[in-house]
Amino acid sequence: METTLIIFKPDAVQRGLMGRILSRFEEKGLQVVGCKLMKITPELAATHYEAHKEKGFYKGLVAFMTSSPVLVLALRGNGAITIARNMMGATFGSKANPGTIRGDFGVSNSFNLIHGSDSPEAAERELKLFFKAGEVLEYHRAVEGWVYDMSGGKPE
Ligand code: RTP
Ligand code: MG
Repeated sequence: METTLIIFKPDAVQRGLMGRILSRFEEKGLQVVGCKLMKITPELAATHYEAHKEKGFYKGLVAFMTSSPVLVLALRGNGAITIARNMMGATFGSKANPGTIRGDFGVSNSFNLIHGSDSPEAAERELKLFFKAGEVLEYHRAVEGWVYDMSGGKPE
């Protein structure tokens, strides 16, 4: 099972889209194992987006991410990282396909509602940035055996 770090960005929180976006992940079958409403500090935004430090959009990105609270989630499932990225769609709403979160809820070429880890390495790093030890939970879902075929002893 993989765990991915998802951020509902300030525009998603301010536009009242948290519930609708989270519903998509829940309905898909991903398990919510961490959840936190928080204001990102400039230091945390800088660390999180350090790969983009030299880019022209970096300053605006840090300003955006620290402008208002975000909802940070840890979502778990088989292939959760790729599944979440596919559900998010292309980086900006203007290009993202209908049916994706960015494609259905946004048109901006800057505000894009959601972040998701793009690799197992990124997920491990980002989960540690946003959640302290013990804040990402392990718990059994009663519905697990209907979300996955467990007849072979592992989730399929
Ligand atoms: P994210 O990291 O937030 O999940 O988004 P992503 O992988 O789809 O996009 P990435 O290339 O990693 O860019 C990170 C965030 O920077 C902002 N951005 N602005 N103005 C621009 O050209 C531009 N390019 C990227 C977006 O907020 C993007 O999500
Ligand atoms: Mg990225």
